[in-house]
Amino acid sequence: MARIEWKAEYETGVAVIDEQHRNLVEIINRFEEALQKGKASRQANQILNDLTGYTQEHFATEERLMAEAGYPHLKTHQSQHRQLLQKVERFQFEFNAAGRRITAELHEFLGYWLINHIQRDDRAFGPCLAGTESAGHAEDAAGPAAGAVREPVPTAHD
Ligand SMILES: [Fe+2]
Repeated sequence: MARIEWKAEYETGVAVIDEQHRNLVEIINRFEEALQKGKASRQANQILNDLTGYTQEHFATEERLMAEAGYPHLKTHQSQHRQLLQKVERFQFEFNAAGRRITAELHEFLGYWLINHIQRDDRAFGPCLAGTESAGHAEDAAGPAAGAVREPVPTAHD
């Protein structure tokens, strides 16, 4: 897979999410560059770590905005995020701990899941979130995670 070029059809219409998606694409493109330059192990590993961290952040933002907007498919979307993250984390583990070489197939997989998820799943919430206040402004989106994080409800002990 070559560089991923951002297309209008990837836009969800939610400014902060689109910004983060562009950043994710950029990280995956840096990963591709590192692979092409033959900086296979160390630099690509670092980029893979960056990607995992940024993906976690990004999913948290999306889930917070979906919760705020009362998006009806939040739970399904959350489980899709969990599955994607588990795959990326497994790759990260294999390449960091098991010392496997990072291959172009990994890059292809990363590009595929990202674009596929954005096009199929993320664009579905665009209309629901676009009208909410914090969704439109990148600087507001870093605010407290109201309702997005499921805190365990403390039970009363007697
Ligand atoms: Fe998503």
